[in-house]
Amino acid sequence: MNESPSSTVALPEAERAEWIIRPAEVGDVPRIKELIDPNALKGAMLPKTLGELYESVRDFQVGVDGDRVIAVGALHVLWEDLAEIRSLAVDEEFQGRGAGKAVTRALLEEAERLRVGRVFALTYATRFFTSLGFRVLDKNLLPRKVWSDCIHCHKFPICDEVAVIYDFRPFPEGPVGPPPELPQVIDLQRLVPGLRFAPTTSESE
Ligand SMILES: CC(C)(COP(=O)(O)OP(=O)(O)OC[C@H]1O[C@@H](n2cnc3c(N)ncnc32)[C@H](O)[C@@H]1OP(=O)(O)O)[C@@H](O)C(=O)NCCC(=O)NCCS
Repeated sequence: MNESPSSTVALPEAERAEWIIRPAEVGDVPRIKELIDPNALKGAMLPKTLGELYESVRDFQVGVDGDRVIAVGALHVLWEDLAEIRSLAVDEEFQGRGAGKAVTRALLEEAERLRVGRVFALTYATRFFTSLGFRVLDKNLLPRKVWSDCIHCHKFPICDEVAVIYDFRPFPEGPVGPPPELPQVIDLQRLVPGLRFAPTTSESE
């Protein structure tokens, strides 16, 4: 068993298993890439280079079964009140056994520790997230900064993912994240006239 500190996430009885959830270490990075690559090819998430993964390794939580990393997910802070869940992937062999939920809960716990307030994801697995307390959000309420990564997506400029958000406390209705007038916020819809966001549906799967 790995001796790194495990997350304090409490797994419901039905999801209790052999694995632990812990913060990622640099030694996990090649395996994290192995889990992301096939899902990126399928268009379920953005591809990541080894360099990007080493630089963001502190964002990642991993599910570990013995010595093997079987699940990964990252929490990327974007603003005072907004973080994103990225690169959430479970080894196919282990899917449907609670590892995805356990990693997501660990990421939410990290967001709560950081007092970040809200966590969103762009996903096709809408029901997976709503069953964890996320709600569907109009993508156009997300800050333009979010879309600056989209140029790396093969679907760009047409995004058909669903935005889901988890609120730790009540927030006023309306746009989330940094105010749109900030200079570091890239207005991709203005820069790229063809960029279209598909309408948000409540269930995408
Ligand atoms: C989505 C994913 C992370 C879920 O992890 P998992 O370990 O298989 O899921 P868990 O066992 O923790 O949870 C199972 C629940 O999630 C639901 N679920 C799993 N995958 C789903 C999907 N693609 N769409 C909708 N719901 C899904 C199951 O129906 C099940 O629901 P229930 O608890 O009501 O029975 C995993 O299937 C995966 O890696 N998929 C490919 C990559 C991907 O789509 N990642 C999400 C990008 S944001």
